[in-house]
Amino acid sequence: MLQKPRGTRDFLPDEMEARRAVEWRLREVARRWGYREVCTPEFEDLDLFTMRSGDGIIEEMYVFEDKGGRKLALRPEITAAVIRMYINEASVAPKPIRWCYFADCFRYERPQKGRYRQFWQFGMELIGADTALADAEAITLASKMLDATGVTYDLKVGHLSFMKSLLKEIEPRFQRRIMAHLDKKDLEGLACTLESVSKPGLGESLRALVECRDLQDAFEIAGIVPERDRIERMVGILDASEVKYTLNFGIARGLDYYTGMVFEGFAQNLGAENQILGGGAYRLAHLLGGEDTPSCGFAIGFDRVMVSLGESIQRKDTVVGVVCTAEGRRRALEVAMAFRHAGLRTEMDLMERGLGAQISHASKTAAFVIVIGAREAESGLVTLKNLQTGEQKTTDLASALVEVEAYGAR
Ligand code: HAM
Repeated sequence: MLQKPRGTRDFLPDEMEARRAVEWRLREVARRWGYREVCTPEFEDLDLFTMRSGDGIIEEMYVFEDKGGRKLALRPEITAAVIRMYINEASVAPKPIRWCYFADCFRYERPQKGRYRQFWQFGMELIGADTALADAEAITLASKMLDATGVTYDLKVGHLSFMKSLLKEIEPRFQRRIMAHLDKKDLEGLACTLESVSKPGLGESLRALVECRDLQDAFEIAGIVPERDRIERMVGILDASEVKYTLNFGIARGLDYYTGMVFEGFAQNLGAENQILGGGAYRLAHLLGGEDTPSCGFAIGFDRVMVSLGESIQRKDTVVGVVCTAEGRRRALEVAMAFRHAGLRTEMDLMERGLGAQISHASKTAAFVIVIGAREAESGLVTLKNLQTGEQKTTDLASALVEVEAYGAR
């Protein structure tokens, strides 16, 4: 028997309904904030992802050559593709541009709970605004979106300027390595790299910064921090808002296009793979052949949110089973149509089974059954049975519709 590829999942209808329910909550928040959906290809030129990050990233990607000999990659994330599209299609559009997406990404990672090779991100990119207000909008929207899903989380906000100030005398490639150690909380690796650049003394300040939760203390640890005014304004806006967050200057972010504000969200009830959101301010457009354009954004790890929500997301769609005798069939088709027109999920027997077998089948999936026999066909009435309570009555079609709708709206 063939199996699905490692790190991928099949979703049965119950799970898909739960996923769609959460997806629509996210869409609704994005819409209210003015973010409009975009869609980019599932695969892109490999260069799009290696230009900024170097060939090292190939290890973590699905890379292939097509029949024309082009080097392509399945997208490991959406931000680079969105910025490519912005350069290609919308660079003259009025700024700022507010875009969002819900799309699958592919990473060649070691699969485990909450870490997949195909996974979905719900993300947004705010292109062309370079202010504390823009940073604060991205963070606030992220928290509103997570709130809308119902997940319980911690939001951590930082800024790369602090770490960059401490590392300013170190060569950029080592800076990146040090930040990667901090991102992975790899203290041994950190000590080794600091030793190799003859800065072992920096370890203490870096550790102090990572543990610091107070903005003024962080300025003191890091010394002169570029963008100090903007950082203070951003924190001021967040503190005056409803967003619950903590400052964390140890956030380094795995992807290396970030330039300033960075933030991450963590689900409280997940294990090792508990990061459900990541984002920040970045500059990518000039690296992809466009004009230098400030942007910020984030992506929610949709699958991790679903793992965190677990059983708490329930399918609430009322199902109506219309069952009938041979004499009632023509009327039953009309009645089923009336329920569908009313927006109710309605199923009819297709197997020409007896009434008893139809009711027993409906009781496995439906909340209500409507019985149409010869008597109902003649009178125009319907027999409505609530399968949960066992209550049964013969009534007119309009009243049956009202009753089932009321049950669905509970
Ligand atoms: P990222 O942190 O690499 O950021 O991914 C965002 C989220 O995707 C993570 O926080 C995590 O929840 C989820 N995620 C990542 N890898 C996996 C995986 N293998 N399985 C399941 N979920 C995963 C980005 O991708 C940036 N493009 C975010 C961004 C948008 N920055 C600016 N704009």
